[in-house]
Amino acid sequence: MKLKTVYVCSECGAQFPKWMGKCTSCNSWNTIIEEVISEAPAKSKVSVLSTPAATSSSPKTIKDIDSADEERTLTGMGELDRVLGGGLVKGSLVLVGGDPGIGKSTLLLQICETMGKAGKILYVSGEESQRQIKLRANRLGITTENLKIYSETNMSLIIDCVFRENPDILIVDSVQTMYNPEIQSTPGNIAQIRDTASVLMKIAKENSISVFLVGHVTKEGSLAGPKVLEHIVDTVLYFEGDRHQSFRILRAVKNRFGSTNEIGVFEMRGNGLEEIPNPSQAMLSGRPENVAGSCIICTMEGTRPVLAEVQALVSPTAFGNPRRMASGPDLGRSLMLMAVLEKRGGLRMSAYDAYVNIVGGLRITEPAADLGLALAIASSFCSTAIDSETVAIGEIGLTGELRSCSFLESRIAECEKLGFKKCIIPSSGTGKLKKFKNIELCPFSDIKGVIDKFCK
Ligand code: TYD
Ligand code: MG
Repeated sequence: MKLKTVYVCSECGAQFPKWMGKCTSCNSWNTIIEEVISEAPAKSKVSVLSTPAATSSSPKTIKDIDSADEERTLTGMGELDRVLGGGLVKGSLVLVGGDPGIGKSTLLLQICETMGKAGKILYVSGEESQRQIKLRANRLGITTENLKIYSETNMSLIIDCVFRENPDILIVDSVQTMYNPEIQSTPGNIAQIRDTASVLMKIAKENSISVFLVGHVTKEGSLAGPKVLEHIVDTVLYFEGDRHQSFRILRAVKNRFGSTNEIGVFEMRGNGLEEIPNPSQAMLSGRPENVAGSCIICTMEGTRPVLAEVQALVSPTAFGNPRRMASGPDLGRSLMLMAVLEKRGGLRMSAYDAYVNIVGGLRITEPAADLGLALAIASSFCSTAIDSETVAIGEIGLTGELRSCSFLESRIAECEKLGFKKCIIPSSGTGKLKKFKNIELCPFSDIKGVIDKFCK
């Protein structure tokens, strides 16, 4: 067999004959890695086994196509079911990505308890021994009889096992450890990762087995490369959160069977992951009352409004250039808001360092958080506390005007439900709002007015 060296971009999977610093296909830097492949790979056992014999289909008129609802299995975790779009679709391939140690294996082992009632599960691990998994299962209280554990990394053995066991659900942990012995590169390389994923996709579609595939992502996204898998699989879920904090957020970034806006919130406890059905309450717990530099915002995560606390610290700059840092909000957006505060709000931000943070590890890109962010900064600047029963919702434009945002009514309703007494909103959005009994609405048309009222 003749071997050949190619260079593959770990971001987009493009191939090049020689190494380059920048991928000309997706324009990312330092993503091209060397890959040794055999020129004419022998037809693998795997692909022979799973080649459709007579399933080639002919075109059909759309009204003749059977459109019975997809069959879904509930995972027993409401948060995960919602992110999946209402349960796991039969025969789908779901990639669960995330930093190492974030809790992917824990989540998948935990759902086996409920899913075991619906069918047979085969859990293939290339990372842990059967004993290790058993110990973890004991800790998580998994007692189902329908779960089989298999420690293996060789894909052709795994395929044989799948055909022997014929499970309803297959869990493969992780894609980086699996290899096809007929491909001349080490496990974790792009060629291996892509092969594993496409073989699993075939298995899923042709045998109606639902597959969960775990993939690690490193900070730089290098080598690990679930990016190259995103277009192969049906659903991509990312498990995020700070490893040092207990909250974990599960986010769908691609979903062929549901919306990609939903998030699921979990907390890592001593005995596994616990669902957080009311994230607002969790995000707000333990917040300081009536201190300067803190403001509550309401952001939409999919169809759910979530309340969170934004904190800001503004202190005089010791050197020429002020320092700015943002963890949670987008830094660019924060800088823009500081410029608006300087020019339209009359605060001399340029002589001050500013740090902004969203408590609980939430990341927010929504413009509706602008007002809360700006108020937290202004509150710290003026050393005036914003009443802790006040929420701020609204986008800020470059002229300092407050602009309305989507779902204003459901956001206010969530604030009311959690016992907040006042809600600062853009005056342009008040027209169509229903009456709220327990929360006072304070409409404003520009940021200057809000600062004069709440921070001076
Ligand atoms: P794990 O699921 O192994 O992460 P991944 O598969 O994403 O690499 O989770 C590992 C972390 O979770 C580990 O640091 C310990 C913690 N953990 C708990 O806090 N409680 C538990 O009950 C379990 C099983 C793990
Ligand atoms: Mg793991």
